Amino acid sequence: MLKKNENRILPQHIAIIMDGNGRWAKKKGLPRTAGHIAGAKTFKNIARYCNKIGLKYLTVYAFSTENWKRPADEVEGIMNLLRDYLKDAENFKDENIRVRFIGDRTPLADDIKELMAKNENDSKNATGLTLYIAINYGGRDEIVKAAQKIVDSGIKADEINEQLISDMLYTCDCPDPDFIIRPSGEYRISNYLIWQSAYSEFWYSDILWPDFTEKHLEKAIADFNKRNRRFGGI
Ligand code: IPE
Ligand code: IPE
Ligand code: MG
Repeated sequence: MLKKNENRILPQHIAIIMDGNGRWAKKKGLPRTAGHIAGAKTFKNIARYCNKIGLKYLTVYAFSTENWKRPADEVEGIMNLLRDYLKDAENFKDENIRVRFIGDRTPLADDIKELMAKNENDSKNATGLTLYIAINYGGRDEIVKAAQKIVDSGIKADEINEQLISDMLYTCDCPDPDFIIRPSGEYRISNYLIWQSAYSEFWYSDILWPDFTEKHLEKAIADFNKRNRRFGGI
């Protein structure tokens, strides 16, 4: 395991697109929901590991603004998993993980919204990993909402700059992700952190999310250490 303070650069903020649950289940002849259950276990394991190695920020994509297009029973299965996770307050106790949710909560069930607020409040003083869970999140929707906030607050055109827009996003109090991981063999961003990922390093793998382990994360971080980030310079 990577140890805290080991001599390598840990990204400041890792963002993960937790993809491939459905294909994982299909390969095993199981219903898609079984893939989501397995994916939720992987998520807990990886979040814990990120906290252990001293990562500051982790953002995971759990449900996109586009995922409502899926069959109602699959959406319900995912929402029930979210509910179970949120009820299990032990997830956060003693772990020193600060949990925040990003995305539009409006269409979520009231009990889920309450549990989200409770989890955020219960973990607000944690000083370890800050874990952002993206639920009903879409990068374009986030930018539209930022534009609406700007207009509503009467800000003048010449007062708008990149920092102001960043400050209007769900991620306003964390640095942009320096590293984005997408397993499952897809090479696309799927409306994830589209403003924040302007200079992120990307890491793709064919591994399906339920099969993703600490070892894969270690490999990804090792690869991140080989990247030459130029930000437009030389
Ligand atoms: C990711 O796995 C979970 C969500 C999008 C909620 P998928 O369900 O997209 O898995 P695949 O891509 O169909 O294999
Ligand atoms: C992205 O995965 C969203 C989440 C992992 C929550 P999708 O499976 O929804 O993405 P597409 O449809 O393959 O682009
Ligand atoms: Mg998918």
